[in-house]
Amino acid sequence: MTAYSPMTNLPEAPGYKKGDLLVLFGELFGRGYANGIVDEARRAGMTVVGATVGRRDNGGELRPLTTGELAEAEALLGGKIINIPLEAGFDLEPADDGVSPVERLKGIKPDEWESARFGEGLLEQSRCNGVARFEANLERFVAELKPFIPAGGSVLFVHTMAGGIPRVRLFMPLLNRIFKGTGDKFLPSERFWNSELGRFSQLNFNEVTADTFGRLLEGTVALRGEIEARGGAVRYAAYGYHGCAVLLGGEYVWQSYTPYVQGEAKMRLEGIAEAAWQQGVKAAVYNCPEIQTNSSTLFLGVELSLYPFLSALEREGGGEMAEQAKRECAQLLKEGVTLDRMLALAEEYLVSPLMAGFRDFAAWPQHNTKEQMAFMLERSQELMALSADQKRVVCAELSRLVFQGVGRLMFDDSWSPRGAVTWLNHDIIARRLVS
Ligand SMILES: NC(=O)c1ccc[n+]([C@@H]2O[C@H](COP(=O)([O-])OP(=O)(O)OC[C@H]3O[C@@H](n4cnc5c(N)ncnc54)[C@H](O)[C@@H]3O)[C@@H](O)[C@H]2O)c1
Repeated sequence: MTAYSPMTNLPEAPGYKKGDLLVLFGELFGRGYANGIVDEARRAGMTVVGATVGRRDNGGELRPLTTGELAEAEALLGGKIINIPLEAGFDLEPADDGVSPVERLKGIKPDEWESARFGEGLLEQSRCNGVARFEANLERFVAELKPFIPAGGSVLFVHTMAGGIPRVRLFMPLLNRIFKGTGDKFLPSERFWNSELGRFSQLNFNEVTADTFGRLLEGTVALRGEIEARGGAVRYAAYGYHGCAVLLGGEYVWQSYTPYVQGEAKMRLEGIAEAAWQQGVKAAVYNCPEIQTNSSTLFLGVELSLYPFLSALEREGGGEMAEQAKRECAQLLKEGVTLDRMLALAEEYLVSPLMAGFRDFAAWPQHNTKEQMAFMLERSQELMALSADQKRVVCAELSRLVFQGVGRLMFDDSWSPRGAVTWLNHDIIARRLVS
């Protein structure tokens, strides 16, 4: 397993210059992590080129964006999008008999999910067909990217792709029971993981969350050579997750959201960066804190460790920036609720004896337990309810601060990365923001 290697000192200003190129490998959504690094690139005068995952109407054929969708996505990105669908994974990919894994699961009744079987070799056929589609689209993407490469300039590829939950109705009640179920509704993540459906999910997570990074590295070998031959340089950065240290009881303590079923795929992503690093490629994975984004809404409770970020801002120097963050968060709370109350409730959960066994780095990613889920979900709702307007909650504000700080750290460090895998914990992010 990758050694725990947190960033402990701020990176130097990077050497990117006006006209250099940032390529966002993954689609940008309004409140996702990638917004932070895109803002940094813009500030540095770089050109930004993006990608799209594509769209499927009613689960049908994968297609590029329509003219209207493209205009909207380009306005959000503030740059051109290469309109070739880069959806990865194979849940909707037909095997050689024309049937996709999702279609195979359609007749299965909800209470029969554990006996679902795919049949010898059929998942592998779909996986191979999915890989072939992704690689063909990647090749077209790279060809269309070439005209944007600045002569003698540098290119930073930023990988944001993660996901791969199979898009089949059978999964929704199961996932709701794993991530949101209490009492009789609770379903242990381990039981799901050991089933055929769990194995299918794992394979699909690997494809989307990890192997897309490897394919990007391989698919740009020739381009890298061309850029370097013209005096430019190429870097790769990717977002990882492998727990995060947050301020608890006056000390920074590593902790994690449980059950993080994509954990093995994230470790595979780390392995891909490490292998590339061995070959002299500047490819780095940055393990980032838990925040609220489009992708994390299913994981109710993931935001609990975000609250102490407010205390980290204070600890790392405070000052006007930290005061402003506190004011903005306080304004979002219901009348009579204080920030101290909010922070105490979050800390009580994070340091509770029930959570102690989950703060085991070597045992990561762990499966959930009924008691842990009950406490986590209850505390998550209790804390959310402290915000006056459920459309403007405190952790959305904290998420924004974190992705801004992370964006800056990743952007700066990627120029001369300190290692293949680096943890960005609350301390260094807070220090970046307050300094
Ligand atoms: N949200 C968190 O708490 C958190 C914590 C640590 C790391 N991260 C990582 O940050 C990165 C960005 O995620 P985010 O949370 O900002 O959410 P997001 O929803 O903004 O981004 C998810 C990205 O994955 C892409 N994607 C999803 N399914 C895909 C598929 N099948 N094929 C190709 N691309 C696909 C989307 O297009 C998008 O670019 C991810 O790698 C995520 O794992 C998130």
